[in-house]
Amino acid sequence: MNDRELMQRRDKAMGPAYRLFYDEPVHLVRGEGVWLFDDEGRKYLDCYNNVASVGHCHPQVVEALHRQASTLNTHTRYLHENVVEYAERLTSTMPGELSVCMPVCTGTEANELAFRIARAVTGNRGTIVTGSAYHGNSYVVNELSTMEYPVSEQPEYLEVVEAPCGYRGRYRYEEPGFGRAYAAAVDEGIDRLAGRQYQPSMFICDNIFSSNGVLTPPPEYLQETYRHVRAAGGLAVADEVQSGLCRLGDHMWGFMDSEVVPDIVTMGKPMGDGHPLAAVVTTPEIAERFAKKYDYFNTFGGNPVSAAVGLAVLDVIENEKILHNVKTVGEYLGRGLRKLGEQHDPIGDVRGKGLFYGVELVRDRKTREPADTEARKIAEHLRHNGILLGVSGPCRNVIKIRPPLVFSRENADQLLDGLQLALAGRHQ
Ligand SMILES: Cc1ncc(COP(=O)(O)O)c(C=O)c1O
Repeated sequence: MNDRELMQRRDKAMGPAYRLFYDEPVHLVRGEGVWLFDDEGRKYLDCYNNVASVGHCHPQVVEALHRQASTLNTHTRYLHENVVEYAERLTSTMPGELSVCMPVCTGTEANELAFRIARAVTGNRGTIVTGSAYHGNSYVVNELSTMEYPVSEQPEYLEVVEAPCGYRGRYRYEEPGFGRAYAAAVDEGIDRLAGRQYQPSMFICDNIFSSNGVLTPPPEYLQETYRHVRAAGGLAVADEVQSGLCRLGDHMWGFMDSEVVPDIVTMGKPMGDGHPLAAVVTTPEIAERFAKKYDYFNTFGGNPVSAAVGLAVLDVIENEKILHNVKTVGEYLGRGLRKLGEQHDPIGDVRGKGLFYGVELVRDRKTREPADTEARKIAEHLRHNGILLGVSGPCRNVIKIRPPLVFSRENADQLLDGLQLALAGRHQ
């Protein structure tokens, strides 16, 4: 069957809400490490998929899954070593009092549970989120995902504050204390909520602001924001679905870059190296106060197979010194991207760290007019040259680079060479 026929069957069987990447979709049949292979044996360097955190089909993860799936799979209402060990191992990577792990299956479920916990524990209903955010796909979490719908549809309990973009936002890099200025805007948001008779239950942000085109605000941003939110009676929630599990190269978790300790941490995608595994981590006090009001059960969350997979991922992270790899290869890649930025006028800004970068394309460096069609063309060009990456940001003009964490220097060179050619092609 050719790809056109398969697409027609797919449209019919799955409906139009399920979109595909690329004008000419990629039909993948196999993955290994940082490589993906299509049905015609073509090879693609994966510079996009953070879910395959320790590499596609890592043998140790596959073996752990196979072994546990061949032995037993149930749920968290029976005792099982794997689940307890996973909760202990995961929380041992967290600072402060963050020692309780509530397993779920997806980032959406983790954020939905955080939302429920925050409301139950604080007794407040207001929620503060950043603009152009993405936190997941359930009804409630979609409301927190401000990139998904028009401002006119924002619910009354929601206060949307500007994401801390120093390149395009209200406060720019050049401004001294620009991180603090964005945090002060959160405080103003709390006042606006109060004006509508709402107190904050929580502030939540993605700590790498992936859907904003990758932002790394200075530490004062989270420090001050958390202080304002707590002073108003709310909880500080770190969405680590994108920024967690070594992604940013200096620490296991993204919020650690800002030297803060959240009240609730939500995580997902990379934890299972492709297997659906996610969690909420919080303090014993918050977990207890929630449990006084509610039970929580999630049929598939924390099942013994998922826990075995999660443990294998943590083992690989340790044994293969993944954090060190992300740090060193990430710095190398960052230098290369910034060098490209010096050579190519359309690159307005290069942001990010570890193995997560955003390269913002503009038509004019002065006006910063977003080069959205150009960004898409570059992604399409690279796809036809064996490199997969994404486009993100509110103006859809930021090339998003977020490969598996086992990306090597050699892979970074392959990507930089590909980008160099794609950018040069634009001027011909
Ligand atoms: C920051 C962030 N939070 C939450 C989610 C939702 O995760 P899931 O798709 O596993 O529900 C995503 C998904 O892209 C995300 O990027």
